[in-house]
Amino acid sequence: LRVFNKPILILGGTFEAANLAATLHTRGHHVITSLAGKTREPFPVKGNVRVGGFGGVDGLVRYIIEHKIYMLVDITHPFANNISLNARKAIYITGVKYRQYQRPPWQQLKDDYWHSVPTIDAAVEAIPPKARVLLALGQQHISPFGARYDVNYLIRMVSQPHISLLIPHHHILFQKPGTVNQERTLLVDHGITHIVCRNSGGVHSYAKVVAARLIKIPIIMIDRQKKIPI
Ligand SMILES: NC(=O)c1ccc[n+]([C@@H]2O[C@H](COP(=O)([O-])OP(=O)(O)OC[C@H]3O[C@@H](n4cnc5c(N)ncnc54)[C@H](OP(=O)(O)O)[C@@H]3O)[C@@H](O)[C@H]2O)c1
Repeated sequence: LRVFNKPILILGGTFEAANLAATLHTRGHHVITSLAGKTREPFPVKGNVRVGGFGGVDGLVRYIIEHKIYMLVDITHPFANNISLNARKAIYITGVKYRQYQRPPWQQLKDDYWHSVPTIDAAVEAIPPKARVLLALGQQHISPFGARYDVNYLIRMVSQPHISLLIPHHHILFQKPGTVNQERTLLVDHGITHIVCRNSGGVHSYAKVVAARLIKIPIIMIDRQKKIPI
């Protein structure tokens, strides 16, 4: 029962983290969810929330000690590598209990045409000449694609970019990922020949993968790096 009063720090920013916070909060645990503060419309989170970077490993260690954190749970996005590495270093230093959860990646199925690449730069190189590409990536990952003057881009984003997209031949579409039918219509209407996206896993943006499978559009799939224990 004593565990219930001991603070659990969730490194969040994901749907799964918000779910976990809600479950633990409902069960009476003392939960603090940490958000980076980069998302304009973060998921509503139950329990306590703190926002903003800690200031590297040192800052995270200080936070854990000052707030007498009992357990650190890393349930950040599969591509959020810095915070996860900081977390693993901080647990070594503080000895705090630690759990990590990462949503599983999508698996390539029989009718999927995937070209898996390890990095954004490799994705830029993998695009065939004169392709019409749906870039389903966050705005901070777009600029390297500007190197390809021969390619036409359809860039989908949820809200107005707050950085200038230095990229030729592009059209921006402000919308969230849709249903399989909506994604298929989008791909067909814009004459898309390739999709570039990251293997985020989860259900929220999987419809485009299914739509691509149905109409046989290849996906240049950027793989995640393993969050290896140190
Ligand atoms: N990467 C994505 O595509 C994606 C998608 C959906 C949600 N998110 C969420 O957005 C956040 C930022 O993603 P990112 O890719 O920029 O991460 P990142 O590269 O791993 O982190 C960059 C820096 O942001 C701060 N930070 C990240 N997550 C934090 C958290 N939960 N609480 C406090 N500080 C945090 C840390 O700053 P300090 O070093 O100063 O502590 C970290 O060093 C993550 O929490 C992630 O779960 C990311």
